[in-house]
Parts: sequence; structure tokens; C-alpha cells
Amino acid sequence: MSATQVLKEHQRYKLDNNDDALFYSEPRFVYHLDAGFRSRLTTLYRQRIPSCAVVLDLMSSWVSHLPKDVIYDKVIGHGLNTDELLANQRLDSYWIQNLNRDQRLPLNDTSVDATLIVAGWQYLQQPEYIASELLRISRPMGQIIVAFSNRMFFTKAPQVWTDGDDNDHLNYVASVLIAQGWLTPEIIVENKCSDNWMRLFGKRCDPFFAVIATKPKP
Ligand SMILES: C[S@@+](CC[C@H](N)C(=O)[O-])C[C@H]1O[C@@H](n2cnc3c(N)ncnc32)[C@H](O)[C@@H]1O
Repeated sequence: MSATQVLKEHQRYKLDNNDDALFYSEPRFVYHLDAGFRSRLTTLYRQRIPSCAVVLDLMSSWVSHLPKDVIYDKVIGHGLNTDELLANQRLDSYWIQNLNRDQRLPLNDTSVDATLIVAGWQYLQQPEYIASELLRISRPMGQIIVAFSNRMFFTKAPQVWTDGDDNDHLNYVASVLIAQGWLTPEIIVENKCSDNWMRLFGKRCDPFFAVIATKPKP
């Protein structure tokens, strides 16, 4: 397995260096993102992923945010908590793997049409190997959609994420993907929070960010 390195070693450092499996050992049946974000994400999936697709929801939980009425060819899930993945009704299959310990994905070359990572990239300490593996398992013209907002489990995010702002995060994800051979990504930034009246009542509002890249044709 090879990958073009983008990060400096110190940027991979995180405050809580215990096994991530411990942190995720208790299931969290909560939404990590607000309703506006989730609805925007589901719309994006509806627009970008055809129903004939084999979908990989990497770093998943009990929800995949896919449109309920669309039946995909197959939805494969991955994460760190068995109870959460068992409860995820969108998944046809799943596996458990700590991606900070082992980056080799147990999927065949050119077998996936769309990979989704939601609020997960910010915890990767070896994103270059993961992006390279995702390129290997993707079909030509297959896509990766990396979506995130501005929250994180701070102690579990590597320095490259905790030190950066939203713009840095977008550029960083894009640069890792490009370095592994993905085509220059499309970037979506939607921050409607400043005029969101819910903020007047102290409610959170999650801005929507996505990096969408395509695997080149051979
Ligand atoms: C904030 S949750 C987001 C879950 C899900 N994508 C969602 O939208 O609800 C972060 C997820 O990242 C995954 N994750 C974090 N660290 C990981 C690691 N070291 N290896 C594999 N997965 C990890 C876990 O599946 C965890 O549920």
C-alpha cells in the first residue's frame, strides 16, 4: 500500500491517543449534525448518487442520511460500534475497523461507485492511505463525498483539524484527495447560520461543507 504524504508528523498528533475503539465502545444513538445539515446532505445524495450505485458509508453510525425512498444496489457500512451499525437500517452489510490502526480496506478493486464520509474525516490520522485505498476500491468516475460541519470531538481530532478553520479543513481534504490521484474536487460551502432565527434562542446551527471528488477514467 502506498500513498503520497501530505501531512507533517506533528499534524497527526491528537490529545487523546488511546485506542479509538474505546472512545466508540458505547453506542451513541444521537444525531451528530442538526436537521438542516442532514436534510441538505440527503438532498445532495439524491442529486449525485444513482440508485444503481454500490455505496460505501465509511465512518458510519446508526444513520446514513441517504434518501429513504431510493433503493441502492448495495450499501456497505463501516464504523467502530457494532450496535450502531446493526441499528442502521440502510446497510446491507458492515464491518468494524479502526482506520487509525489499519488503513487497508477489505474491499475489492473498482467495486464501489460512491463513498460517503460524514463528520468522520476529521478523526483520520493517516488520511493519505485512506484516500489512496478509496481510490483503489472506486470504479472509474466513482465519487467520494466528504461532508462535515464545524464541530468535532476535540480530543480525538488530529492537530491538522484542531488548528484549522473551515476553509483550512476544505483545502486540506481536497489536497489529500488530489495528492492520491482524485480529480480536483468540487467544494460546497453553505453557511446560512448567521441569518438563522433559531440562534436567537441559543440553538446550534451547523454550517454545511462538502468536498466531492471523482476518480479519473483510466
Ligand atoms: C461524529 S461520528 C459520525 C458518524 C456518522 N457518519 C454520522 O453521520 O452520524 C464519527 C464516526 O467516525 C468513525 N470513526 C472515528 N474514529 C475512527 C477510527 N479511528 N476508525 C474508524 N472509524 C472511526 C466512527 O464510526 C464514528 O461514529
